[in-house]
Amino acid sequence: MPYLCGVSTTILAIESSCDETAAAICRDGVILSNYIANQTIHEKYGGVVPELASRAHMQNIVPVVHAALQTAFPSMAPKDALSTVNAIAFTQAPGLIGSLLVGAQFAKSLALALNVPLIAVHHMQAHVLANLIEDPKPAFPFLCLTVSGGHTQIVLCESPDSLKVIGETMDDAAGEAFDKSAKLLGLPYPGGPLIDKYAQQGDPNRFKFPEPQIPGLNFSFSGLKTAILYFLQEHTATNCTFITDNLADICASIQHRIISILLNKLKTASLETGIKNVCIAGGVSANSGLRKALTEMGEKYNWHTFIPAFQYCTDNAAMIGITGYYKYLKGEFTDLSVSPTARAEW
Ligand code: KG4
Ligand code: ZN
Repeated sequence: MPYLCGVSTTILAIESSCDETAAAICRDGVILSNYIANQTIHEKYGGVVPELASRAHMQNIVPVVHAALQTAFPSMAPKDALSTVNAIAFTQAPGLIGSLLVGAQFAKSLALALNVPLIAVHHMQAHVLANLIEDPKPAFPFLCLTVSGGHTQIVLCESPDSLKVIGETMDDAAGEAFDKSAKLLGLPYPGGPLIDKYAQQGDPNRFKFPEPQIPGLNFSFSGLKTAILYFLQEHTATNCTFITDNLADICASIQHRIISILLNKLKTASLETGIKNVCIAGGVSANSGLRKALTEMGEKYNWHTFIPAFQYCTDNAAMIGITGYYKYLKGEFTDLSVSPTARAEW
């Protein structure tokens, strides 16, 4: 549905839930720009430091919005570009509260100044709807394995606003499993992309890590983390260069197990629901091994698989823009008293 009452709809979207400050312009469901400022300051602390994240968002938000406007409307002055905006969408939950507050307050102020509606977006819904940014788009209903640094969910999507979580992690998220494993290996934060990189040169069957036996569609990663810790302690006790000597094989074996835990549950979900349109989303869906394994599983079970482009997997504002667009079409606006929340069911 490209037009509402024959009028073009331009949404300025803002994402600031964790350590990425992002802005995007979405016109009639098409992403015109998608700009992200990564916060490298957290690397040396081995994880995101909330206080530093909020401060970095304060520094980044104006330049990032400016860059998104300039990329979308290169021949216009920022003031004129802003005057074309019909609504402001922002991440309202979940996330780090200090980080969310920066994006929310900026979005509210801009909506007030421009006299346009404000759209509150749930970050996890946005990760799922990132699959609706590019063609081909999945037909409804579809299943989405949403795997990020804070969440691991299987979501049944019947429409853009009818999403039901049918399985989720009982402890760590898949991204945490990657990042905590990487930390045990002495790799910097965030370790997920590094495990991915080293795994490409390694043997995934060299070391065997256990697959947890969790009933139903839920996940658990805490046992895997403990198994990796004991495995490394045992081997480094007799060989202090064990990790460096075997880094690629260790990374490939850990990645292989995380992927098999994820995809075995997704296979069960597809069998139980009969749904064969299957998507992935979230930061971990950038993992090359997971993308390849999902494609192979899709071919084997006759699924239609959908994998967002890399820039729409990790945190970004384009996914907030596309979600905002569907909410705009339904008139789902929020008033200026809205406040962000760190945790939120959906
Ligand atoms: O969705 P996201 O950007 O932020 C959250 O909402 O949490 O996900 C971040 C997570 C981190 O745990 C990061 O290590 C992981 O996604 N990640 C990856 C890869 N790229 C990002 N994990 C494995 N392989 C990757 N290529
Ligand atoms: Zn995310």
